[in-house]
Amino acid sequence: MRFETKCVHTGVDKDGTFNSCTTPIYTTSTFYWDSLESHKGFDYTRSGNPTRSAMEENIAALEGGISCRATATGMAAITLVMHLFKPGDHIIAGDDIYGGTYRLFADVFTKWGITFSFIKMSDTETVKSAITPETKAIWIETPSNPLLNLVDIQAVTKIASAADSDIITIADNTFCSPYLQRPIEFGVDIVLHSTTKYLNGHSDVVGGCVVSRTEELAERVAYNSNALGLGCSPFDAWLVLRGIKTLAPRMEAHQRGAIALARMLETHPKVERVYYPGLESHPHHDLAKRQQDGFGGMLSFDVKDGRPVAEKVMLNSKLFLLAESLGGVESLIEYPESMSHASMTQEARRAAGITEKTVRVSVGIESPEDLVADLKQALDS
Ligand SMILES: Cc1ncc(COP(=O)(O)O)c(C=O)c1O
Repeated sequence: MRFETKCVHTGVDKDGTFNSCTTPIYTTSTFYWDSLESHKGFDYTRSGNPTRSAMEENIAALEGGISCRATATGMAAITLVMHLFKPGDHIIAGDDIYGGTYRLFADVFTKWGITFSFIKMSDTETVKSAITPETKAIWIETPSNPLLNLVDIQAVTKIASAADSDIITIADNTFCSPYLQRPIEFGVDIVLHSTTKYLNGHSDVVGGCVVSRTEELAERVAYNSNALGLGCSPFDAWLVLRGIKTLAPRMEAHQRGAIALARMLETHPKVERVYYPGLESHPHHDLAKRQQDGFGGMLSFDVKDGRPVAEKVMLNSKLFLLAESLGGVESLIEYPESMSHASMTQEARRAAGITEKTVRVSVGIESPEDLVADLKQALDS
């Protein structure tokens, strides 16, 4: 099956009782047994639920993994992955990863004795030199949030497998979705998502998932998910499964709007810099062409005169809602400095290149002409 077909069909047709065409929502906490030794595959919803399993099967197929575990939020997915490690382990991550991930690493897991190096992940030499004998994982987020820097996934997985110690690679694929990028094809061991974003796509769920490439990792992730109790509700799983059915046409629509906006912004006199991998001027444009099947629906830009102009643009736009999050059908605009990346220290934001000039846009699926006209009038005003 090709990707679009898998989106619609994989994992979905599970009800043989009444032949429903969509997966029922199994709102039950527990399942009765046929005997003291047997049941129909599910015993308790924390451990597994048919609606959640349908969604997990679907996402595992889209990412090319052998198994997926769905979680209550994207952060729960990251927490689940982090439980593969122990005190003393060292993890390498980009210095411009999502602010909430940075906070979880820097504030929570460092207290558990796990150490982190936040580096410029787009420079493979820097990645190599950050490896220590304690390094157990390299955390990839590409394109990064909010500055859309790309990491060469294949180069990083090669570095990890050439290292003396056992290093796994983990990719947060939230920004691209499997429609545009499948890190397992480049050798990544674990892919995770905030399904809140493109996979669900309608801004009405928070959720996450972890996809494993190997049986061994899949078993450890499944065990930890049940032990920690991180699974998502059947209703949320159903919504995400429904959202995924339209992932392919939605991603195409997001990208159409994004390139139109990026081209307008690139020539606007009040804009200093545009961050969108689809522009020829983007430093990782060639890598994006090689590694991704498109350039995505996220872009950021720096305005020339800092916060006052940024603020006006965000408040004067009529179609773009001033809101965090991304990947929904409606366009959102936000200020990383005080919103999505407020959980980073100002020093960490500056090191990552996020300034008070930076505005981030999640381009929805509205008409590109309407979006361009609206953002242009907001900038002109
Ligand atoms: C790249 C990325 N990863 C993870 C998360 C966390 O996901 P959630 O908000 O669903 O917990 C986010 C949230 O914005 C994100 O942008």
